[in-house]
Amino acid sequence: MLNRQGRPSQPEAHGPSDPAAGMAAEAARLQGDVGRSDKGSAGDHPTFTGNRALAQIEPLIFEIGHAETTGVDLDEPDDFTPRLGGLERREPIGLPGLSEPETMRHYVRLSQQNYGIDTGVFPLGSCTMKHNARLNERMARLPGFADVHPLQPVSTVQGALELMQDLGRYLTTMTGMTAVALSPKAGAHGELCGMMAIKTAIAAKGEGATRNVVLVPDSAHGTNPATAALIGFTVRAVPAREDGWVHVEDVKALIGPDVAAIMLTNPNTCGLFEPQIVEIAQALHEAGAYFYCDGANFNAIVGKAKPGDLGVDAMHINLHKTFSTPHGGGGPGAGPVVLSERLARFAPVPFIRKVGERLELVEHEEEEAGETAPFGRITAFHGQMGMYVRALSYMLSHGCDGMRQASEDAVLNANYVRAGLSDLLSLPFGDKPCMHEVLFDDAWLKDTGITTLDIAKAMIDEGYHPMTMYFPLVVHGAMLIEPTESDSKASLDLFIATLRDLAMSAKRSETERFRGAPYHAPRRRLDETRAARSPVLKWTRPAPVSEAAE
Ligand SMILES: Cc1ncc(COP(=O)(O)O)c(C=O)c1O
Repeated sequence: MLNRQGRPSQPEAHGPSDPAAGMAAEAARLQGDVGRSDKGSAGDHPTFTGNRALAQIEPLIFEIGHAETTGVDLDEPDDFTPRLGGLERREPIGLPGLSEPETMRHYVRLSQQNYGIDTGVFPLGSCTMKHNARLNERMARLPGFADVHPLQPVSTVQGALELMQDLGRYLTTMTGMTAVALSPKAGAHGELCGMMAIKTAIAAKGEGATRNVVLVPDSAHGTNPATAALIGFTVRAVPAREDGWVHVEDVKALIGPDVAAIMLTNPNTCGLFEPQIVEIAQALHEAGAYFYCDGANFNAIVGKAKPGDLGVDAMHINLHKTFSTPHGGGGPGAGPVVLSERLARFAPVPFIRKVGERLELVEHEEEEAGETAPFGRITAFHGQMGMYVRALSYMLSHGCDGMRQASEDAVLNANYVRAGLSDLLSLPFGDKPCMHEVLFDDAWLKDTGITTLDIAKAMIDEGYHPMTMYFPLVVHGAMLIEPTESDSKASLDLFIATLRDLAMSAKRSETERFRGAPYHAPRRRLDETRAARSPVLKWTRPAPVSEAAE
């Protein structure tokens, strides 16, 4: 028989005695469906192939490729004498081969299974899944930037250094800070960089042995306490309050001579601006401690508030959230850290310095005796060039007013979603304005038999990527929605209408719609506990159908 690529199926795959059943089983096997709980998941109208119309289920390449197939014709090698001293491979490696069109189709189909911001509304809270203009991508691919090598002589990369210097200047201007370290490669890496600067500053004051506590609010992103602990600080939690804010009196009650810093996110992970942030900064400074601000949510306040004016000493900025690089998928990140005057001299190497008309890279701490005292180096090279180009391209194409408007629109959109849903869903901190993301809890689902997870899965059936679930941890059954500035009113209206429909359905306890969801996705609901506890990380070739049936 032929599989859907028109190629003879593997010889060992014998069907059962009923030819039609055998063909269906074979098709399912070729679709990689053997042993999966959602086998035959095309609902009431199963198809022979397992596909759902033009939405094709793509098997693993090992399931469709054959070791004896190749997409290229290579000449037989001339006779040669191996020089591997008997270490050459004796058996074929068994890599799956496909023809060129099959290879193309395989990867295109896989790419079509991805849901991205280019596919639809992506309301994943705390992640800022916003539109990335193609212009920025194009700039990043200009050969002069894309092909630059970190070991090139500095005289040949003057343009790249100038771009980095400009980017750094814009970041310090926007944040009202004195210095910037561009090299950290993610938000969490930026936290590490900023906290190492703080640790070095404390040691320079001779307080390294005594100031070893970092205050972290309960609502913080998990990376904050992890960073503090990683570099040897003890974490002291600032308790969560019912209004979602951090209160200056709670911070004051925890401040002592042992406190090195606070790590506070603003706007915080509940989507709220911290109204007492200036008083909190003052209290810390008076006690000789530092203020680390997690600036991952800077996209809500660009052009509206400068963290330096609020008393922040160190803050990372996720370029991959605020400044136009796709976020997610383990792709490249950049988490530059801006530093106040109190910390500027401890910024890590490398950094850029202008000497006459030329730009130089200061690569080593020892080059810097005197006015600066870098704490060391946090990356091998200088960071992610492509992200720097995208970020600068974003800044220049938006201009100051455009960036401010992006923040305003992000906040407006989140509040539009809040207003559109607040009569049906419950808001843990009352119906007050939020910043760039709106946080609901699951109180509204009480007695319905439906959970936050069920709502998220039902959203998939409706064609939406789910919102962030169960984060922040301080809110029960949290649903965190960040629409960003990218979506139009029409698309937000449809999103709100969809969520309203789901909410009303949940309130009527129409459990069937939720419990089995997603019904229409290529894969049905996973057993998440099993997936976490016994992950299957290795593919094993299934037994031939005839054996499996025995
Ligand atoms: C508030 C907050 N802090 C820190 C981080 C960590 O950033 P990254 O994932 O780049 O390490 C994130 C991630 O989005 C975040 O939302």
